[in-house]
Amino acid sequence: MIERIVTGNVVEDPVEIAMEVSLRPHDFANYIGQNHLKKNLQLAITAAKKRAEPLDHVLLYGPPGLGKTTMATVIANEMGATIRVTSGPAIERSGDLASILTNLQDGDILFIDEIHRLHRTVEEVLYSAMEDFKLDIMIGKGPSARSLRLDLPKFTLIGATTRTGSLASPLRDRFGMIHRLEFYKPDEIQQIILRAAKILNVGIDEESAKILATRARLTPRIANRLLKRVRDYADVNGDGIVDTSISQKALELLEIDDMGLDPADRMFLNAIIDNYNGGPVGVETLSALTSEERGTIEDFFEPYLMQIGLLERTPRGRKVTPKAYKHLGKKGQESDKPDQTNLV
Ligand SMILES: Nc1ncnc2c1ncn2[C@@H]1O[C@H](COP(=O)(O)OP(=O)(O)O)[C@@H](O)[C@H]1O
Ligand SMILES: [Mg+2]
Repeated sequence: MIERIVTGNVVEDPVEIAMEVSLRPHDFANYIGQNHLKKNLQLAITAAKKRAEPLDHVLLYGPPGLGKTTMATVIANEMGATIRVTSGPAIERSGDLASILTNLQDGDILFIDEIHRLHRTVEEVLYSAMEDFKLDIMIGKGPSARSLRLDLPKFTLIGATTRTGSLASPLRDRFGMIHRLEFYKPDEIQQIILRAAKILNVGIDEESAKILATRARLTPRIANRLLKRVRDYADVNGDGIVDTSISQKALELLEIDDMGLDPADRMFLNAIIDNYNGGPVGVETLSALTSEERGTIEDFFEPYLMQIGLLERTPRGRKVTPKAYKHLGKKGQESDKPDQTNLV
């Protein structure tokens, strides 16, 4: 398997995980971008604090690496609250959730990552917990079974998901705030890179940070990872300072092009062009054709390719745009229509 450095997911590498933790901003001031989201949350947090109440439950959704987990910890810090972190797949039985909930204190924040992967039976326990701060449990079995209602502390649930579509509506409806994280603007990514460089003690100039920023899929996690790779390159092939020539060479070596696409992206687009004349083609077919999981295609490949205008979703499937033909140097569908760039 080729190791993709542009994947939005956390790579299970202790060095990478440690780096992520060290680079995580702790407050709104250091959380770059997502201004709309920050404004909304700041208002809600100020109001909740004024009323001395816990914050409404928050659902954050968007592609991997955009800062959902980071935002959950920022919210906790801004509230001055303790955060407990878990994830959908980690909670196997409703009893596991019951014990997490009963161990919370008033005002605590419970963060459930990948909340769309909660088991249905576990999810049902959350309904009354979120709505009334009550826990319904069954005691005993058979005819003597009875249900018991326990009071829970007044907590805030923050859920994160890459897909709201696969969240059951009774769960969705119980969140007071539902926010989508947007791709970042290149200049925001540049700021994120410069901030990370400072923390990691990497010498980099603004111009080089800008070059990296245009190749980072408008995603902070990838920006930080690129910075690390380019620094490695600078350490080996230079004096450790990241300048424009080092950046260009390192990106070339990583085969990341000027739109931030890596070989896997190009293979994905070429597969649609070569086999389906540019589409439309269904996602299941694409998954079989490219040996990528459907989830990876939907969560990772598509959002960015659509954001930069290389791919379209139509009712009949995915379609490659004329802009993608042009970018890949393919003939066939180049149109004379003006270029409708979505890249901000
Ligand atoms: N707004 C931001 N400003 C600065 N760094 C960020 C921001 N958002 C994310 N990051 C960085 O990107 C990394 C990945 O973010 P994370 O919150 O784990 O993404 P997600 O949970 O959405 O997959 C974090 O370690 C953090 O260093
Ligand atoms: Mg996360």
